[in-house]
Amino acid sequence: MQATLTALVAKAQTELAGLTARPALEAAKARYVGPNGELTALMKQMGTVPKEQRPAMGKLINETKARLQELLDAALAAIETNELRAQLGPAIDPTLPTPDARSGTYHPLTLVREEMCRILRKVGFTVADGPEVETEYYCFDALNTPADHPARDVQDTFYFPATAHFGNVSKKTAEEKYLLRTHTSSVQIRTMLKGPPPIRIVSPGRTYRRDATDATHSANFNQLECLYVDKNVTVRDLKALLDYIFGSLLGKDTKTRFRPHYFGYTEPSFEVDLSAKHLPKVKKEWIEIGGCGMVDPTVFAGVGYDPEVWSGYAFGMGLERLAMLLYGIDDIRYFYQNDLRFLNQFA
Ligand code: DAH
Repeated sequence: MQATLTALVAKAQTELAGLTARPALEAAKARYVGPNGELTALMKQMGTVPKEQRPAMGKLINETKARLQELLDAALAAIETNELRAQLGPAIDPTLPTPDARSGTYHPLTLVREEMCRILRKVGFTVADGPEVETEYYCFDALNTPADHPARDVQDTFYFPATAHFGNVSKKTAEEKYLLRTHTSSVQIRTMLKGPPPIRIVSPGRTYRRDATDATHSANFNQLECLYVDKNVTVRDLKALLDYIFGSLLGKDTKTRFRPHYFGYTEPSFEVDLSAKHLPKVKKEWIEIGGCGMVDPTVFAGVGYDPEVWSGYAFGMGLERLAMLLYGIDDIRYFYQNDLRFLNQFA
C-alpha cells in the first residue's frame, strides 16, 4: 500500500506539472481525488488492512491527500499565471520611446509671441504679466475710458455676475464688476502702479470680447502690449520702435504708417498700418495691425506720475493677425482647433 501511494504521488507530480489548461486540470483532479479517483479507491481498501496497521495507513493516506492537493494548487497557480501572461501580451518596457515618436512643434502663436518678446528684449523691454480676469478700473477707468464708452457695453465685454469673487485680483472699489479683459492695456496700469518710471514693458496675453466667431474674429484672442515711459519720449521714438519690430519680425522691406485715431489713453492716438510687399497675404496693401499713441496725461496723473515730468508711448496689437500675415494663414479658427495637420507645419 505504501509503495502504491508513493507511486501515485510521483505520477501525479509529473502529470500535473505538464498541464497548461483548466479542463485538463479538472480531469486530472477527478482522476486522483474525485469520487471515482485513484486515491479514493485506495481509501476504500482501508477495510482490508489489518487493524493494527490502520492508524499508520490512515496517516499515510491523509499525507498523500494533502500532497496531492498541494500539487493541484500548484498546477492551478501555474495555469493562472499563464492565462495572465497571455492577456498581457508580450513583455514591454514602458520607458522605451515609441517607434513613431515625433517631437512636438511650437504653436504658431507661441512662435510669434516669443519672437516679438525676443526682438523687444534686445532694446531693453522686459516682459510683464497681468490677470485675464480684470476689474473695470484696470481695463477701462484708469485708461480714461468713459462710463458710457461702447467698448464697456455688455455686448462687447464679458462681465461676471456681481456675486463673482476673485480674491487674488484686487478691486479699487467694492462696486466695480469683474470682467474678462478686452485688451492687454490693463497691464499698463498695473505696471505703472507698481513703481516709478522709467518703464519699458511688453505684455503678451489672452484677451476676450463678445464677438461672433468667423474667419477673422474670435471671442478669445491674443494681444501684445508695449509701454514705454521716460523723459522726453516722442512720437518719433514710437514710430522708430514700430519700424524696428515689424522690420525684424516680417523682413526689412516692411514699412509702417500712422493714421490719426482716438483712444482714451493716448493723445495723440494712431492706428498703425503695415506694408510688406514680400508677404503673399499682404501684397500691395496697407494692413491695419494695431493702435498706438503717446500716453495721455490723465492716465499718468491717475497712477501718480507727474505728466509735466514724464512722457511715454504705448501700443497694442493682435497676435493672431500678425501670425496670419507672417505665415499666410486665412482663417483665425485654425489657431484653436489643434489640428495636427495645421500645427505640424510650424517648426
Ligand atoms: N487697446 C487697444 C485695442 O484693444 C489697442 C491699443 C491702442 C493699445 C492704443 C495701446 C494704445 O496701448 O496706445 O484695440
